[in-house]
Amino acid sequence: METSRVAVITGGASGIGREACLKFAKEGDCVVVADFNEAAGQETVQMIKDAGGEAIFVKVDVSKQEEVEGLVNKAVEQYGRIDVMFNNAGIGGAGPVLSQNMDFYHRTINVNQHGVAYGIIAAGNKMKELGIQGVIINTASVFGFLASPGTFAYHATKGAVIMMSKSGALELAPYGIRVLAVAPGAVDTPIIQGFKDNGLLDKMRASVMGGELTKPEMVANTVYLLSLKEAEAINGSVVMADQGYAS
Ligand code: NAI
Repeated sequence: METSRVAVITGGASGIGREACLKFAKEGDCVVVADFNEAAGQETVQMIKDAGGEAIFVKVDVSKQEEVEGLVNKAVEQYGRIDVMFNNAGIGGAGPVLSQNMDFYHRTINVNQHGVAYGIIAAGNKMKELGIQGVIINTASVFGFLASPGTFAYHATKGAVIMMSKSGALELAPYGIRVLAVAPGAVDTPIIQGFKDNGLLDKMRASVMGGELTKPEMVANTVYLLSLKEAEAINGSVVMADQGYAS
C-alpha cells in the first residue's frame, strides 16, 4: 500500500491556504492545517474530515521561529514524516512609504518574510534529517515583481520570498529537496480587502487578464501540481498563478 504524503500548510484557515488544505486532502494526503486563527483553522479540519480526509490543526504564529519548529515537529510526531511544506500565511495592508507606520512595517516583514524563512529552515532540516525528498513551496506575489503605490512593506517581503526560494533551492538540491515559489495575482480572499482603501483593489482586478479576480482554488490547484513528483524538474522557480497579470 502506498503511504500517504504529509502536507503542512500555513495560513490554512482562510483563502488560498484553506483551499490548498482541501485539495491536498482530497487527493489523499494527510494535512496539517496551521494558522493562528484557531476557530477558522478547526473549521478547515472539519471540512476535510466531513469529506473523508485526514487532518489536524496546529495553532502557530509563523513570525515566531520556535512555533514554526514546533509545527514541523508536531507534523512528524503525528504522521511520522513531512513531504510538503507550504509556507503561505501572510498579511496585507497598505500605507504610503513616507508616512509608514513602522509597527505595521515590522509586522509585515516578520510574518511574510521571516515566517517563510522559518518554514524553509524548519522543514528543510527535518526533511534532510529524515532523508525525505520533499518540496517546500512559498507564497510570493506578482507584487514581488511589480511596484504599486502604498504597498512598500508588502513588496519588500514578496521580493524576499522569491530570492529565499531560489537560494533555498540551491542549498537543498543536494538533498533532493525542492524549494520554489508560487506568485498569485489578485485573488478573491479577505487579504485584498486591505488594499481597498487607496483604490488599489480596483486596479488589481483590472490588471487580471479577463478582468476577474482569481479564485483561491485556482492557486491551490497550481500548488498541488507543483508538489507532485511529475513536477520534479521545477526547482528554484517562481511559478505565476495569476491568470495573466498586466501591470
Ligand atoms: P487570507 O487572509 O485569506 O489568508 C491568510 C491566512 O494567514 C489567514 O488564515 C491568517 O489567519 C493567516 N495568518 C496571518 N498571519 C499569520 C501568522 N502570523 N501566523 C499564522 N497564520 C497567519 O489571504 P490569502 O489571500 O489566502 O493569502 C495567502 C497568501 O497569499 C499570503 O502570503 C498573501 O500575501 C498571498 N497572496 C495573496 C494574494 C491575493 O490577492 N489574495 C495575491 C498574492 C499573494
